Order: sequence, then C-alpha cells, then structure tokens
Amino acid sequence: MFLWGTATAAYQIEGAAREDGRGVSIWDTFAHEPGRTRDGHTGDVACDHYHRWREDVALMSGLGLNAYRFSIAWPRVLAQGRGEVNARGLDFYDRLVDALLAAGIQPVPTLFHWDLPQALEDRGGWLNRDTAAVFAEYAATVAGRLADRVPLWITLNEPFVHMAYGYAMGLHAPGHLLLTDALPAAHHQLLGHGLAVQALRAAGARQVALTNNCTPVWPASQEEADLRAAEAYDVLHNRLFNDPLLLGKYPDMSAYIPTLDFLRDGDLATIATPIDALGINYYNPTRIAAPTADGLPFADAGVTGFPTTAFGWPVVPDGLRELLTGLKARYDTALPPILITENGCSQDDVPADDGTIEDTARVAFLEGHLAAMRQAMAEGVDVRGYFAWSLLDNFEWAEGYHQRFGLVHVDFATQRRTPKRSYHWFREFLKAQNRTQNTDT
Ligand code: FCB
Repeated sequence: MFLWGTATAAYQIEGAAREDGRGVSIWDTFAHEPGRTRDGHTGDVACDHYHRWREDVALMSGLGLNAYRFSIAWPRVLAQGRGEVNARGLDFYDRLVDALLAAGIQPVPTLFHWDLPQALEDRGGWLNRDTAAVFAEYAATVAGRLADRVPLWITLNEPFVHMAYGYAMGLHAPGHLLLTDALPAAHHQLLGHGLAVQALRAAGARQVALTNNCTPVWPASQEEADLRAAEAYDVLHNRLFNDPLLLGKYPDMSAYIPTLDFLRDGDLATIATPIDALGINYYNPTRIAAPTADGLPFADAGVTGFPTTAFGWPVVPDGLRELLTGLKARYDTALPPILITENGCSQDDVPADDGTIEDTARVAFLEGHLAAMRQAMAEGVDVRGYFAWSLLDNFEWAEGYHQRFGLVHVDFATQRRTPKRSYHWFREFLKAQNRTQNTDT
C-alpha cells in the first residue's frame, strides 16, 4: 500500500509544555531566550494538539489519509531524557495511536524531531557520544509500548538540519555556533540512529527508517572554485548523512574537516545497520558558490528565476525528480525504498470575509511536486509514500508562527481549525488515487 499522509512534529503542534510531567526540551529553553525566535514566539501552546488531538485525527480522517507521520516528544516520555519513564506522557501517544488505527490511519512516529531533553543538553547534547546510547534506550522504551500496533518507525528527522542550524550556525536550539566543529553532532546522531534501529527491532518494530533532508546542489558557475564549493556542500548536506547509512563509510572531507577523531571502530557498521526505507524531506534545490570569509567551505548563492514561497524558498518541483533520480544513480542497489516524509510550502494564508482560504499556490505546489515524484517513479525510483508538510499551520521553529505550512489553517488566538482549499484539493486527489488503485487491482 502506498502511504499517503501528512506530517507534523511534537514541539511544533503539541503545546502543553508543562503538563502531565513533561520535562524541558532544548526548544523550550531556546525559544524563551530573548532574540532567538521571531517576535519571541514559543511552542508553549502551539496548536494545542495535546488537548485537541481528537479533532485533529478527525481532520485527517476527513482528508482520507492512510498514514500520519508525527513525532514523539522525548522529554514527555523521559523528563530527564533517561531513567524514570513518565507514564502519562507515553499514555498520550498510546491513545493517539489507537485513535489513528480506529480511523484507518497508519501511525508513523518519528522518535527525534529536534526536541532533545534539556537534561541531556546539559551534558553536551549530541556533542556527547553517550547521547547515542541514551537515544537507543528511549527508542526501546517507546517501542516496548507501541510496536505491537506501529509497524513503521522513523528514528531521526533531518540530522543535517539539526547539526547545521542547531550546532553549526546557532539558528535553532541548542544555539551553538561551531561551524565545521559541529561535525560530532552529526556522527553521534547517526550512531544513535544505528543503535536505535537495533533496539527498535529487538522491541518488535517491523520496519525502520531515517529521514534525511536532501537538496540537489547546483554550482553557481562552471568555474573551478564554484564547482569545488558545490561539491563540498553536496558532501556536507547530503552525502555526510546518506553515505554512512547506505554505504557504511564517510565521504572524503579531508579538504575542510581535518580530523574525524570522534569516529571509533565499529561505529560505521552500527550506522549502516540495514533499514527498510529512507525518508526524504524535499523543499528546494541549493545554488552554491566559492566560499567567502566566514569559515565555511562554500557560500549560498541563492536560486533565482523561480517563484518563491512566503519563506522565500524557490519553488522547483523538478528538483524532486532530480533529487530522487540522483539518489538512485548514486546509490543504486544500496538505496532502499523511499518515503517522501515531508514536502510543502509556506504561504501568507489569510481567510477571506466568508472564512474560506484559497491557497491556490499551495495546490499548484503539491500538484507540481506529486507529478515530479511520479516522473521519478517512472524513471525507476522506488517511492512508497508521500507525506505533505503539514497538516496544520504550526510553530515554524525560529520563524515562530509566521510561516504557515498547513493544509488546515489555525487561528492561533482561538485555536480554530479551518481546512484550506489545498485540504479539499488533496481529499479529491486521494479519492481519485483510491479509484485508480481499486481499478488496477
Ligand atoms: C523541515 C522540518 C519541519 C518543518 C519544515 C518546514 O526542515 O523537518 O519540522 O519545519 O522544514
């Protein structure tokens, strides 16, 4: 069965930051520090999904989805990141899973979508190798409770973005500005992934995946310096996370990373523990030029000549086809089946006087990207699912509530949910899919 879903993440929608024994995460700390997020927005309340989850499951059911990707808040399950389990936190996900199953929707949980327990950050977070083993313990705890009903698990969401924004550039929690010294945070996440795959399987998980953010990299020119920089960017954004996972080795980074002294014997074999699917989040391609003076081996030259989202991200549907066929060409038989675990766009969606939200640009975005996915499949890429980001407008990290990605509009003052045009469009699209699937079989 092809999985058709929407995706969300715990800190972006749940709220209830202090309820039922939930511990503090690095995002609670970061968002409350002055100047870290736009207008000082925090996820304290977000979409209040922790209380309104029944309504949100009903919205998904109305959409006709057969899958839902959400994330589990580690500090809700283990307030200190390890040790004593917070039963009330785990109960929340247990109820959610049952409600999804009752609605015919397969739950697809992600174990880590950036909300590390603060207690673990206080010991170095992902810069500390121990965090990898602690992550696997947490994975075993959650799967011990849910794996009887949850077949497919995602370990990490976008370890690249967490490393780059959280540890290298200081734009996301935990807010470190380490530039290329952030690399241990990549390695320890990957190691944690490998250990978690083993722990999940031991706890009865049938399928395990990891979600990477990937981007096609376009050199700004054919000049040698731009080509070299584009290659470095491709290595640091894409191959650093896909090569060890799929090939059991790191790409050559010696030109800009002097030592991999965090790497120990056996780590790569653990990281390359076979997975059942690779999750891909695609938003846009990246255009790269020779470095300027900021200590990184590349510079972002910006993609021009395409429409842009409210975020300013270029809309390039064919980039998805390019990415998928590029992965197939690069990894060939080592590439597992692919799930598009996120794809979507932010728009300034303002309800009209009659309350409707005509987000026609989002409809065009989805149509274009779904066609590009189909094209990649026709070119031989094995894609098994597509999850639109996102079900609801939500807390968009450093941008706070300013970027709306939802198929459903959320009025953050009242928590009122209003399906947008794109929601209605996706529902009709899914109905048509079901019809073709039924005629095919
Ligand atoms: C991805 C994140 C997701 C969301 C989208 C817009 O990088 O995984 O949480 O913020 O971007």
